[in-house]
Amino acid sequence: MTRVYYDSDADLGVLQNKTLAVIGYGNQGRAQALNMRDSGLNVVVGNRRDDYWNLATRDGFKVLSIAEAAEIADVICMLIPDDVQPPVYDQFIKTYLGRGKTLDFASGYNLYFSHILPPEEADVVMVAPKMIGQSVRDLYVKGSGGPALVGVQRNASGWAHQTALAIAKAIGATRVGAIESSVEEETITDLFAEQTLDGPFLLSMQTAFDVLVDAGYNPEVVLLELYSSGEVIEVLKDIVTAGLYRQLDNHSTTSQYGQLTRAPMIVSQNTKTIYQQILDDIKNGKFSEEWELEREAGYSKLTQLKKAALAHRINAAEDRIKRKMRLSWLSETGEGGSSSE
Ligand code: NAI
Repeated sequence: MTRVYYDSDADLGVLQNKTLAVIGYGNQGRAQALNMRDSGLNVVVGNRRDDYWNLATRDGFKVLSIAEAAEIADVICMLIPDDVQPPVYDQFIKTYLGRGKTLDFASGYNLYFSHILPPEEADVVMVAPKMIGQSVRDLYVKGSGGPALVGVQRNASGWAHQTALAIAKAIGATRVGAIESSVEEETITDLFAEQTLDGPFLLSMQTAFDVLVDAGYNPEVVLLELYSSGEVIEVLKDIVTAGLYRQLDNHSTTSQYGQLTRAPMIVSQNTKTIYQQILDDIKNGKFSEEWELEREAGYSKLTQLKKAALAHRINAAEDRIKRKMRLSWLSETGEGGSSSE
């Protein structure tokens, strides 16, 4: 049975008179540090000397080196990117973990793949927001929150579960519901969704663009049809609120018929076999080993793939449509920036 925790199930008192060190002040680090401080907890930030250090200082936090923060903290929140966590843990954090300390992760990745092996005496918990950092903060400020998965990897003190729930409450997650989960479940479902949905969504947009433009249609009209009009945002919202198939009634019957008859031509039994292979590669560690080698190689393949993606003609069409149309969401440039024509 799915166990969901709300504010009344969690006690912030567990963290009162304790020091929480937020390691990293990026997407999750900033949002969680601000929310926990606003929830009345004693938060310090541990960061290397970079722009994030300056940002945390400007936000009024006491900022220490990662080692100093880990040393004084009762709860250490690992909020730096997953791929840099193992060396940072080994170099600056491991020494300071012991009895009475808690190590908290926002993702199960390094625990599941045993890239980080905390000592037996420490509590190890996971509070994984299912929401981007900025929204974790924005929703909290509005009096709401983003949902999260909570799990206990090691309960050395007997208090690990209460600590995880208190962290979930402090960041706002138990306002809307924190679901009992596990490091394995979080890691597998998170990676699987990224690899089978997010990536193919981008490539199917590009493929549809190529087919229509090669057939002689105006790239800007094609882009408007595919996603630039913003209709896709509304459809996704309807999927979230009404339901995957229950939102179909918002579309014409012609559209409904076209969607339901053509989709199985693309997503077929063969797709399921590929999904299964992707799931197997995640579970048996093949993907994580590949990603580890990529990190060691200085991210050369990722750099090359992103370069090729940003050189595709769809980027230039996006720039043109942004200039020509007065659609407010088109000027909200994402972090990836835009290419030149
Ligand atoms: P991020 O990329 O925003 O992290 C930036 C921070 O990491 C900065 O403070 C920077 O100084 C520090 N950092 C980067 N490289 C470093 C290095 N080599 N040594 C020391 N510090 C370094 O990270 P993000 O996206 O917030 O992810 C943090 C954790 O939260 C990860 O475990 C991720 O899986 C999880 N998560 C992230 C979500 C998101 O909104 N991006 C959503 C849910 C979970």
